[in-house]
Amino acid sequence: MDSSKLRQVLLDLPSNAQEPIVGNIFIPYLLKLLDFDATETVPKFATGNSFDAVDYAVRKNAENDIFVNTKSNPYLLLEIKGRDINLSGNSAQYRSAVKQLHGYLRGSNCKSAQWGIITNSRHIQLFSKHGKVIHPASSCLEITPDNVDEIVAAIKAKIDNPPRALTVAIYNNKGGVGKTTTTVNLAATLAAFGKQVLIIDFDPNQQDLTNSLDVKPKEDALYSWLENKPSPSFPPGVMFRFSFPTKSTGTIAFDVIPSDKKLMVLGEERLRQVIRIAKLRQLIDPLKSLYDYILIDSPPNWRFFSQSAVYASDVVLIPTKHNNIFSLQNAAIVIKQFIPEVQSFRKDGGPIALPIFFNGEAITPAARATADRALDEIIEQAKNDKTNPFDLTPYFYSRYSQAKPDHYIFNLPSYAHIANAAFARTPSVYRNKTAYDYYFALAKEYFLQ
Ligand SMILES: Nc1ncnc2c1ncn2[C@@H]1O[C@H](COP(=O)(O)OP(=O)(O)OP(=O)(O)O)[C@@H](O)[C@H]1O
Ligand SMILES: [Mg+2]
Repeated sequence: MDSSKLRQVLLDLPSNAQEPIVGNIFIPYLLKLLDFDATETVPKFATGNSFDAVDYAVRKNAENDIFVNTKSNPYLLLEIKGRDINLSGNSAQYRSAVKQLHGYLRGSNCKSAQWGIITNSRHIQLFSKHGKVIHPASSCLEITPDNVDEIVAAIKAKIDNPPRALTVAIYNNKGGVGKTTTTVNLAATLAAFGKQVLIIDFDPNQQDLTNSLDVKPKEDALYSWLENKPSPSFPPGVMFRFSFPTKSTGTIAFDVIPSDKKLMVLGEERLRQVIRIAKLRQLIDPLKSLYDYILIDSPPNWRFFSQSAVYASDVVLIPTKHNNIFSLQNAAIVIKQFIPEVQSFRKDGGPIALPIFFNGEAITPAARATADRALDEIIEQAKNDKTNPFDLTPYFYSRYSQAKPDHYIFNLPSYAHIANAAFARTPSVYRNKTAYDYYFALAKEYFLQ
C-alpha cells in the first residue's frame, strides 16, 4: 500500500464526513498501514460488555486461526467517530469516547486486547491496556495530510513492540500514608502470583524500602547508574534479588534497585544538573521487556525524586488515609496539578492517576461519611476552580456514574502484622495469609485482569 494514499484520502474526505464515511474510506487505509488485512479485521466486534459492539477489532492471523473466522483474542480495538464529533482536547465528546473505549477494552471477550484507538480521522489517540490498567500510549493527536504518515508509523511502531512492563509510581505528596509499605507488599504479592517484578527505592533520604528488605547497597551504585549514559548492559551492583523460600510453591523472588547514600547528600540543584528528571525513565526503558511490573517508591513532597518517579511511570498509585484531610487534599493536588504538569513535558498522554485508595486505618460508617463530605468538597472546589477546572470524581469514586452515584473507594485495612513486618525484613504478605489476601485484593482491584 502506498502510504501517500492516506494523505490523499484525508484531502478527499468531506470536512463533515459522518461516521459511516470515515469508517468506509479512512479506516481501511489506516488498517492496511498498520498491517492488518480484511481477514484480520472484524467489524462490529462483540466485546462482551453491556455497551454495543466496538466498531473494529483486529489481530494477526495464526496458521489455523483466521481472526475473521474464529473472532477470538482481539489485539487492537478501534472506536470510530464522525468528523462531526469533537475529539479534540478535553471536550465532553472526547471524554465520552474514551470512556466507551475503556468499556470495550474491559469486555469479557477482549482480555487479550492490548491496544485501543479512538479516531474520527481528524484526531487520533492510542491507548495501551496492561492487565486491567488502560492508559494513554499517545496524546490525542490532530491529524493533517502532512503528518498522517508520521502519526500512523509511530502508532505501528508501538503496537508492533508492546512493552511487557507496566511502570507504576507509588506517590502521595503527603508523608506516612503507606507508599513504601504498598510498594513492597504489592511487589511481593504480584511476584507470588507469578509476575516478574522490579521495585526501585527512589526515596534516598529515608531508604525505608531498602532497609525493610535488608538490602545493603554500595554507597554510590544507584547514583552511578543514574549519572551515566543509558546503556543496553545493566551495570553490576545496582540490582539485588530478594528471594523467599516457600514450602508449597518453591522460591518466590523479585528484583530490587535500592537507594544509596550518595543520592542523599547531593542537593536538589545538583541532582537536577547531573541527573535530570527524565533520566530514570530513559534508564528503565530497556528493562521494560524483562518485567511485568516496575514499581517505584517515591518520597513525599514534589521534588527531584518524586518528579522523576512520576515522569518515569505509566500510572500513579496514590495511597491516602480516610481520616487525614491532608492526605486527601494532597492526593487531589497530585491528580489535578502535578500529573498534568508532567503530562505537558512528556507529550505522550502519560502518566495518569489511578483512583485513590484508603490505606491502613480502621473505618467506621461515621468516619466514612466524614471522609465522603471532605472528598465531595474537594471535588466541588476543583470543579469550580476558575483557572483550572478539573473533575476529580473518577479519581476519587472509580465506580461513579450519573445513573449510579456510587461512592466506593478501595480500602486496604489496618493490620498490625503489616506494620510489624519491617522488623522481620520480609514483606508481610509472605508471612501472613491475611496480609496476603489484603494485598491480593489491591492487586486485583487495580492491576490483575
Ligand atoms: N495497612 C497497614 N496496616 C498497618 N500499618 C500500616 C499499613 N500500611 C502502612 N502501615 C504503617 O504506616 C507507617 C507508614 O507507612 P509507610 O512508611 O509505608 O508510609 P510512606 O508513605 O512510605 O511514608 P513516607 O512518606 O515517610 O515515605 C509505617 O509504620 C507502616 O508500617
Ligand atoms: Mg516511604
